[in-house]
Amino acid sequence: MARDSLTITDNRTGKSYEVPVEAGTIRAVDLRQIKAGADDFGLMSYDPAFINTASTRSAITEVDGERGILLYRGYPIEQLCEQGTYLEIAYLILNGELPTAAQLEAWTHEVLHHTFVHENIKELMQAFRYDAHPMGMFISTVAALSSFYPEASDVESAENRRYLITRLIAKVPTIAAFSYRHNRGLPYVYPNNNLSYCGNFLSMIFKMSEPEYRVNRTLEQALDILFIMHADHEQNCSTNAMRAIGSSRVDPFSALAGAAAALYGPLHGGANEAVLRMLAQIGDVRQVPAFIERVKSGEGRLMGFGHRVYKNYDPRARLIKRVAEQVFEVTGRNPLIDIAVELERIALQDDYFVSRKLYPNVDFYSGIIYQVMGLPVDLFPVLFAIPRTVGWLAQWEEMIMDPEQKIARPRQIYTGPAQRDYVPLKKR
Ligand code: CMC
Repeated sequence: MARDSLTITDNRTGKSYEVPVEAGTIRAVDLRQIKAGADDFGLMSYDPAFINTASTRSAITEVDGERGILLYRGYPIEQLCEQGTYLEIAYLILNGELPTAAQLEAWTHEVLHHTFVHENIKELMQAFRYDAHPMGMFISTVAALSSFYPEASDVESAENRRYLITRLIAKVPTIAAFSYRHNRGLPYVYPNNNLSYCGNFLSMIFKMSEPEYRVNRTLEQALDILFIMHADHEQNCSTNAMRAIGSSRVDPFSALAGAAAALYGPLHGGANEAVLRMLAQIGDVRQVPAFIERVKSGEGRLMGFGHRVYKNYDPRARLIKRVAEQVFEVTGRNPLIDIAVELERIALQDDYFVSRKLYPNVDFYSGIIYQVMGLPVDLFPVLFAIPRTVGWLAQWEEMIMDPEQKIARPRQIYTGPAQRDYVPLKKR
């Protein structure tokens, strides 16, 4: 009769072991009982880059990479982008259920009334070099926020966690916008709490001498959709960093700075920046075949293509393509879209990409939209970090509340020299 277990025979000893199978996994610690001798530590699993290891149970986001499906708390990303608004979906991700009208109103009010940062934070940001990369400023400033909230280290209190989560979600757009204004040598614009989350962000970015910034509805909605689709993506590199750092019970500001640093890399959230640079470098649709050949021969990657989990079209890439067309109606067409579309067309017919299941990911088209909106390329990772703050915090809180979690501490296979005696300098 079928049993939910795995029988393992250790050919070193001839012994057999039965380990339970639950939710399609075995517990790595169950392997520890398998020993070649009395003083053997016990078998471990080796999985660099967590290719086949689940590090947690999670009820937040589900990615079905084979079928190209993304669900937040069970709801398809397409429905959330078409019918939801960013703060509503943030509430869903954090709380597990869609808010009622009253809950949404209270949550929106709470977030929009904590968008200001302490003046010292502003002064701190002003101390950066005039051309500092906005992401470097963002990471450092989020970390610095912990020093403004001494109570932030009390992560065991549910009430305090909610207080900190709200503060962070409210303040990241302000920090992001200040980093942009600093980089451009423009005066920082204070938040306008009468605007929506995205409208206020656009105001803090673009407002000049006008008494009130007039938000373009199409651009506000496009940004809202982009924020929804970047809000969470289960156990990616930066979320894993958030959980790992937070597992030491450090405050969420410090953990989030670490997560944002992980996002900055070109293989993760820095990819949208890398895509734009790549498209600009290709420069012309006629150069696309030659560029594809260079990628195939190992000269660099096709940025914005491929994903550890998606082995089918990333549903966010499909949605973004549609948003791009709406934005172009307001801003005019970004000529880079033609190069991107041609790259996608050729790549999806080419055996190199087909056999490796490489499809466009979320970053392939997002930068093209940000660029026509007038946002500079080096702000792109920051634009990713603003909405991902919600996912990081939801995953952080889930980790804190999970009785199975402990401080994250992987094992290693030691490959260095065996124990040896120190040799004095004169004898070396
Ligand atoms: N262009 C060309 N070849 C690629 C690419 C690419 N973008 N991505 C993967 N490959 C090849 C890779 O060379 C390897 O080939 P081979 O088997 O011959 O050695 C094979 O495909 C498998 O690649 P991998 O590096 O083992 O795959 P991974 O799961 O470790 O990497 C990835 C996933 C996203 C880091 C990678 O696909 C990549 O570098 N893509 C470009 C950067 C990018 O767009 N990142 C954004 C990811 S989505 C947003 C986010 O979550 O941050």
